Parts: sequence; structure tokens; C-alpha cells
Amino acid sequence: MEKHISVLLNEVIDNLNIKEDGIYIDATIGFGGHSSEILKRIPKGKLIGFDKDINAVTYSTERLKSINDNFIIYNEGFENIKKRCEEENIKPDGILFDLGLSSVEIDDASRGFSYMQDAKLDMRMDLNSPKTAEEIVNTYTVEELTKVFREYGEEKHALKIAKEIEKERLVKRIETTKELVDIIDRCYPYKEKRKGHPAKKVFQAIRIEVNNELDEFEKTLKDALEVLNTEGRIAVITFHSLEDRICKKTFKEVTETNPVVKGMPNIPKEMLPDYKLITNKPILPTDIEIRQNSRSKSAKLRVIEKIK
Ligand SMILES: C[S@@+](CC[C@H](N)C(=O)[O-])C[C@H]1O[C@@H](n2cnc3c(N)ncnc32)[C@H](O)[C@@H]1O
Repeated sequence: MEKHISVLLNEVIDNLNIKEDGIYIDATIGFGGHSSEILKRIPKGKLIGFDKDINAVTYSTERLKSINDNFIIYNEGFENIKKRCEEENIKPDGILFDLGLSSVEIDDASRGFSYMQDAKLDMRMDLNSPKTAEEIVNTYTVEELTKVFREYGEEKHALKIAKEIEKERLVKRIETTKELVDIIDRCYPYKEKRKGHPAKKVFQAIRIEVNNELDEFEKTLKDALEVLNTEGRIAVITFHSLEDRICKKTFKEVTETNPVVKGMPNIPKEMLPDYKLITNKPILPTDIEIRQNSRSKSAKLRVIEKIK
């Protein structure tokens, strides 16, 4: 199995402020890269991992076992963080979200995430979830497809591509990534093809829709803020502007001083925000990291702390 290189690894570990007896949640355990480093630092603590992808859970379980047994991994969406914390009566000291896909998922042709390899149109992170990319491409109306491509892919040829999909599926059901790539390719002006692969944005958009990624992240980030322990931190690595916007907005809302008292000399403690930003600007990968791992290029890390 090809390895996934963890993005912004040192930056995440430094900013989580890890305590040796703390409880840490890795919301997207993937192939256990970040979690391995956390687990080594918490000999008296506990790590709780989540991943929708059974392959990620199996692999990271084996990897973490070689460090110690202070962990549990759920093959579940991170939407369950709040429920699990309540059930176990715990307040985590740190929560990490490393969003998107692992390289292993992208490179596994059979999953249908990659526009570079021919496969069935699938794109599900959770192989038990009912909605696949094939269903979306073949059943959504032109309006629905256009909306998905525009909103989640920021694709400017959204309508043209949606109409071409509709035309094609009247002839034959669209079943493979290659068939979809060919349709998108036909809609793209020649001179724009040099700027990057024409299918990149549409594939991203469909993947977000299949896995309901933005809604789940937005809701879970709020839950994570709620369950976090005092002095606990949340670190979020995003890979595209829509995810980053959600993170930035959510963090801003909870770190701003109430406008009614803002600027007053002695603001009562209870009127001050419960959280403070650790990163005013996101932390970005260094040139060296980008050279070693081109997938880190668009990564942004934001960190927040619960102060009371
Ligand atoms: C970028 S990878 C994480 C890599 C990991 N930090 C490492 O160092 O190996 C993202 C992982 O999150 C998982 N994932 C994405 N959305 C999820 C969700 N809503 N709930 C649980 N896991 C999710 C994906 O299946 C993938 O394995």
C-alpha cells in the first residue's frame, strides 16, 4: 500500500500543546501519521480516532499498536464526535481535523476519486453509504449539477458541462471516470486546458457532494468547540477555499468580543470570548515541504484554544 505523507506534521504537533495525560481526538485518522506522533507523546493519555474509510482504520490500527495501546479507532464519520464524548463522559484536550482524502484513497484507482485513472464512478469515503458519484451524475437535473459544480468546484463552465452530461446520458448511462473526463474535456476551451486538468474542479465538486463534506465539517467543528476541555485546542488542516472559509468564519464567531462591550476598559470576564485564536493567519507548508510532497501545496492550518 502506498504511503500517505502527513501534511504540516511538526506544525500540528507543536500547536496542539500536547499533555502526556491528555485525551486527543484525531477526527480523520487516515493512515495514522499525525496520530502516531500524538500517541508517542501521551503515555498516560488516550487517543480516539475516527475514519469513514475501513482501509484507513485497519491500517492505522496496526501502525498505532506498535507504539502502545492507549487508543481506540471508530470506523465512523467524525459527525459522531459529540455523541462519543458524551457517552464516554470525556472532554478532549485536543482535536485534529486533516480534511479531504489520503493519498492512498486518491491513488487507489478502484475508488473512482482520480480523474487520472479509469474506474467506476464511486467516490465514497464510506463504502457503506448509499450515494455514489455515478448516481449523482446520472440522476441530478442540469440545475442541480450546475449548482454542485459551481458551489463546490467553483467551475466556470458548470452549466455547459451539466448540459453535456444530460445529452450524453440520454444515449448511455455514464459509468466510469474516463467517460466523465471525456465529457468535461469536450466542454473546455483549448487554451484553458494548459492551466490544469479540466476535470479537477468537477471531480472535487462531485466528491464533496457524494460525501456531504462541507455540511458535516461545519456542524462537527461547532460540536468540537463545544466538547473541548478548557485549555484544549482544535487544529484544522484544510485543502480548499470552501473548507477554509468555514473554519475561518466559525473560529471568528467564537473569538470575537461581544460588540456591546467591545472597547470598554473593564469587561466582565463572563462577557469575554470563551476561545482565542492561536493562529491569526493560517500556517502554510514551507517550500521544502511542498517540494517533498506536492499534495501539501494548498494546505492551511488554523488553530484555536478554549480559554474558559
Ligand atoms: C488527509 S487524510 C488524513 C491523513 C492523516 N492525518 C495521516 O497523517 O495519515 C483524511 C482522512 O479523513 C477521512 N475522512 C474524511 N472525511 C471524514 C469524515 N467526515 N469522518 C471521518 N473520516 C473522514 C478520509 O477517509 C481520510 O482517510
